[in-house]
Amino acid sequence: MLPRRRRPRGGGGAPPGILSPAVRFPGVAIYLAERRMGRSRRDFLSRLALSKGFRVLDAYSSAVTHVVMEQTSAEEAICWQESRAAPPPGCTRPALLDISWFTESMAAGQPVPVQGRHRLEVAVPRKGLPSPVWMAPYACQRPTPLTHHNTSLSEALEVLAEAAGFEGSEGRLISFCRAASVLKALPFPVTAPSQLQGLPHFGEHSCRVIQELLEHGLCEEVERVRLSERYQSMKLFTQIFGVGVRTADRWYREGLRTLDDIREQVQRLTQQQKAGLQHYQDLSTAVQRQDVEALQQVVEAAVGRALPGATVTLAGGFRRGKMQGHDVDFLITHPQDGQEAGLLPRVMCYLEQQGFVLYHQYRHRGDPTHLTWPSNTMDTYERSFCIFRLPRPPGAAIGELQRPCPTWKAVRVDLVVTPISQFPFALLGWTGSKHFERELRRFSRKEKGLWLNSHGLFDPEQKTVFPVAAEEDIFRHLGLAYLPPEQRNA
Ligand code: CTP
Ligand code: MN
Ligand code: MN
Repeated sequence: MLPRRRRPRGGGGAPPGILSPAVRFPGVAIYLAERRMGRSRRDFLSRLALSKGFRVLDAYSSAVTHVVMEQTSAEEAICWQESRAAPPPGCTRPALLDISWFTESMAAGQPVPVQGRHRLEVAVPRKGLPSPVWMAPYACQRPTPLTHHNTSLSEALEVLAEAAGFEGSEGRLISFCRAASVLKALPFPVTAPSQLQGLPHFGEHSCRVIQELLEHGLCEEVERVRLSERYQSMKLFTQIFGVGVRTADRWYREGLRTLDDIREQVQRLTQQQKAGLQHYQDLSTAVQRQDVEALQQVVEAAVGRALPGATVTLAGGFRRGKMQGHDVDFLITHPQDGQEAGLLPRVMCYLEQQGFVLYHQYRHRGDPTHLTWPSNTMDTYERSFCIFRLPRPPGAAIGELQRPCPTWKAVRVDLVVTPISQFPFALLGWTGSKHFERELRRFSRKEKGLWLNSHGLFDPEQKTVFPVAAEEDIFRHLGLAYLPPEQRNA
């Protein structure tokens, strides 16, 4: 057996912490915590970093900007940091980072930007370990980004939510939506059922679904629903513009199953449903972001002609950052209250003259005093639910199969006109998501005793409304941290 080589204490060469000849990144001071790393590896990593122009400090102090640890969980890292002296007033604690930040920075030859996956502050649970995550109970109290870590799990729960909606079970629909929404807000992928412990809105049923998905990759109930004739027909029918759950259910009970079955009953359809069926193929194809930009220009031009100074604001899913959608939602207003009244018929007239309108259903402004707070969440704004004829950009005229495409496509557009005084409420209400809105209204009512809808925020005790200038004011009145649209994808 070879004699054990004596390890040089202190690492030999330039001792870490002593300034190396060329510090290239003065804003970065690394401290390598030895805990699991071992001294020799630490010395090696220090020399490596010094040779690349990084500053490495030998001792933990308030000068350290980046603490790097190896094989350490977030919980352990936080305990370690809390056992150190608190930073002096005005100083922030350094970032607690996994070795991955260090190795990536060494490979890049410069400090890479710190991302969530590098941070030990965010619990990245190891498989099987319960994760003590606290989550606020209302979706409007927590950020929900568009892309998240639990897509296949949340989608499975949303199938069950949708199916419950098809059966008119509003309560079950909301329960599954709430559980799905919690998964969307989690900062890590769920890999073990134990990680659901302590999360709000995870009842026995939702837990069982997730457990099955984690263990088998599929959930029998979800697959059964997905493949059922009932779910597939209801989904097909409710996708037709102008068809709600009640109509779809009636058709299903009458034995109708396909679009052709519906087409045979054309005399029973409303004008809206006829238009929806006629353009079914285009309307069931996702609207793309470049379509949104083209449409906004078209609508802005017509609005500008109908009322100079009037503005067009994108709302709905595209405002939340979605790249695709089922329609495009625009709000129209004018900086002077009252000027906007009667604007929409003129806008529609211009658009029709230019051949942009395939179908539209105009609704006059309702009497806002008819709005029953808070049960009626529908607003009474002047609006038009339309199908636009959107010319395809010249380059897109040839299809993938070299077949010429039609020169236009049908796109669903919602236009809503609001007085400027109510605009922030309309914008908040029309930005969604639907579940976010539902939660915001429930939070207002249950936690604050205030009634919120797309027209205003009402105090039923004082019989007063809150004047606001921007969405931020509404969050503030409700005592909520402001969430930008991209974080409302609940
Ligand atoms: N909305 C509303 N009143 C309506 C229709 C919709 O207040 N009569 C609100 C919805 O609650 C939602 C927002 O307007 O918050 C956008 O609705 P919608 O276009 O249906 O959904 P998006 O989130 O935009 O998603 P998609 O991509 O499917 O269009
Ligand atoms: Mn939309
Ligand atoms: Mn819409």
